[in-house]
Amino acid sequence: MKRIAVLTSGGDAPGMNAAIRAVVRTGVDKGWEVFGVRHGYAGLISGDLLPLSARDVSGVIQLGGTMLGSARSLEFKTEEGRRKAIRSLSERGVEAVVVIGGNGSQTGSQALCQMGFPVVGVASTIDNDLYGSETCIGVDTALNIALEAIDRLKVTASSHQRAFLIEVMGRNCGYLALMAAIAGGAEAVVIPEVDTDPEEIAVALRCGYERGKPHALVVVAEGAEYNAAGLARYFEEHKERLGFELRVSTLGHIQRGGAPGAFDRLLATRLAAAAVEELERGVSGVLMGLIRGEIVATLLADVVANKKALDLSLLELAQVLAK
Ligand code: F6P
Repeated sequence: MKRIAVLTSGGDAPGMNAAIRAVVRTGVDKGWEVFGVRHGYAGLISGDLLPLSARDVSGVIQLGGTMLGSARSLEFKTEEGRRKAIRSLSERGVEAVVVIGGNGSQTGSQALCQMGFPVVGVASTIDNDLYGSETCIGVDTALNIALEAIDRLKVTASSHQRAFLIEVMGRNCGYLALMAAIAGGAEAVVIPEVDTDPEEIAVALRCGYERGKPHALVVVAEGAEYNAAGLARYFEEHKERLGFELRVSTLGHIQRGGAPGAFDRLLATRLAAAAVEELERGVSGVLMGLIRGEIVATLLADVVANKKALDLSLLELAQVLAK
């Protein structure tokens, strides 16, 4: 192996820069040339590659976002787009790519592998919905950002005896919402994996008040059937009967832009360095993820074929702890 490339794709996640840095420095340590691809798969198609030295990745480990830029490329989903990408890589003599990203990005990795180009993926998405890694790069930081918001909302909610809906990201996965609800001490949580009856939410909030709680917080996953706007509408329409006025805070992209904490910096560094080691051993078509505290390579074919399950016993725990 002489030349490899690294790219970040899909939604940026805190820790991506630490992963880029680890790919570059581990590769340089082996005497390889490392190229950074700008703007994800779009840059792969247009040949937007830049050589990266160990110095080029100085001072980025503590930064959120991605120094290479990211994108969601529709063209790469076509076979012709992927052919163009392989052509760009071959023209520069690049022999393998490390793809740092989540579900969509690793589907792209698998498609490239199936066309014969070596790829190793690195599990990175704040949604934590990627099969092959119990925790992905960015999740811990995003969760801490959500918690900071929840803690603050609890202070103001308690001062006014108010009820709040806090919507968190996660696409179709309730992981961030569920963990934020448990760690933030919310009165209720709404996730896509479980049907929600707004009437039950009203009961949970009322019971909380009756038990003497000064606030009522509901963490809502953006992908739930009733997202925050939908729930607020329901409560507004049945205001007289339910007796609640709900205020809504949508955290949105604020969760994604933070500086990575220690956990994400270390996870990103370990997964990315392991990706380069796999390439050196001649392995490709795998995703590097964290399973039971170990760095594990899972076949990309399995990653794209399986849906990661959310541990619903944690939902019961959230309900018990809301007492
Ligand atoms: O996949 C990460 C994520 O932040 C999701 O939680 C969210 O639904 C989506 O990306 C938002 O995408 P975009 O930044 O393209 O609006």
